[in-house]
Amino acid sequence: MLYDQQGTDTRDDRLVLRPLTLDDAEACYSWNSDERVTKYMSYSTCTDISQTVNWIKSAMIDKADWNWAFVLKEVNKVIGTGSIGPNTQMKGYWSIGYNLHYDYWHKGYCTEAMRAIIDFAHTKLGVNKICSEHAVDNPRSGKVLEKCGLKFDHFGEYSKIDGSQTYKAKFYKLEWK
Ligand SMILES: CC(C)(COP(=O)(O)OP(=O)(O)OC[C@H]1O[C@@H](n2cnc3c(N)ncnc32)[C@H](O)[C@@H]1OP(=O)(O)O)[C@@H](O)C(=O)NCCC(=O)NCCS
Repeated sequence: MLYDQQGTDTRDDRLVLRPLTLDDAEACYSWNSDERVTKYMSYSTCTDISQTVNWIKSAMIDKADWNWAFVLKEVNKVIGTGSIGPNTQMKGYWSIGYNLHYDYWHKGYCTEAMRAIIDFAHTKLGVNKICSEHAVDNPRSGKVLEKCGLKFDHFGEYSKIDGSQTYKAKFYKLEWK
């Protein structure tokens, strides 16, 4: 399970999680150029693969963040990515984020991957406080959070990085005592 950032199986054994690299740009572009996937993400929809390359590079800038590619084992294909890293506003909390190619929604893959990532952060990195948020109009993301054990905490809002949209959002937390 994820422990040394080498490729490793998730518990349900359908995915391998391994560190995201620039070689994954083409796969990532297949969904971060798709507005059905990007609508509620903080990044803007990519219209050229060079933007996806920059997206991967920016994800890697903060060395404290862990960014994984979700590889569907049966076809050896990258179908999504997920991350966990220290939250810049809520001291002591680590935030999670994820996105998945549209063709692979509603099969439990994101929940499977994020459960493994949260388990890794807690058991191997000693992270005891996790948080995330999703747009009120994007409840599918909230279901992933709930299936990963996070509980609703408060309402707020977040904006796209380019400032083009602000979303009313539900904020969630998971804490170990
Ligand atoms: C958020 C996102 C990753 C969720 O994808 P998803 O496919 O709904 O989530 P999962 O992969 O965990 O699938 C869960 C669903 O699959 C179903 N499912 C099917 N087979 C399953 C299995 N073997 N195991 C678990 N769940 C399974 C579950 O019943 C569940 O549906 P339900 O919640 O209606 O019961 C996806 O919608 C996405 O990429 N959205 C755009 C990006 C985004 O919004 N990111 C988050 C920003 S805050």
